[in-house]
Amino acid sequence: MRSRPVIPIIGRRVTVPWRLGQYVVPAGTPISMSVLLVHHREDLYPEPFEFRPERWLGRTPTTYEWIPFGGGTRRCLGAALAMAEQRVVLEAMTTRLELEADRPEPERALHRNVTMIPARGARAIVRARD
Ligand code: HEM
Repeated sequence: MRSRPVIPIIGRRVTVPWRLGQYVVPAGTPISMSVLLVHHREDLYPEPFEFRPERWLGRTPTTYEWIPFGGGTRRCLGAALAMAEQRVVLEAMTTRLELEADRPEPERALHRNVTMIPARGARAIVRARD
């Protein structure tokens, strides 16, 4: 959800004149925020392109550095459900199955509509655990 956020970009329309750093944005302007780029900021995530799940150990990300569900008043309504589902499904899978990627090299991401998905469908060799 950090390195391959399902939704890489979210959008808003500015309703009042707004300033972000050196940029002044007039009311009515559509703007996009890149979840993907925030999640790959070197200052927030050293070696951002490395998959290192242990980087989360003992650390909770702050509001604006981990935003797979967007943010503010239009943040994803299903975020808590999605996280709960992941905990249940991933735990059930990892306790019962051994998963191995079908190819050793990293799989590229592909855009489909507004989402980002594994380009080859995340194919895996699946074995039941003893
Ligand atoms: C891993 C799973 C999911 C991801 C990564 C995800 C991500 C997102 C993102 C990025 C947005 C846009 C938020 C923004 O603009 O700030 C969104 C909106 C939304 N999501 Fe999800 N979502 C997930 C699962 C779900 C589920 C399970 C539900 C419902 C059961 C759901 C319902 C919604 C709704 C209703 C909105 C629109 C909220 C609004 O515009 O006020 N999402 N989601």
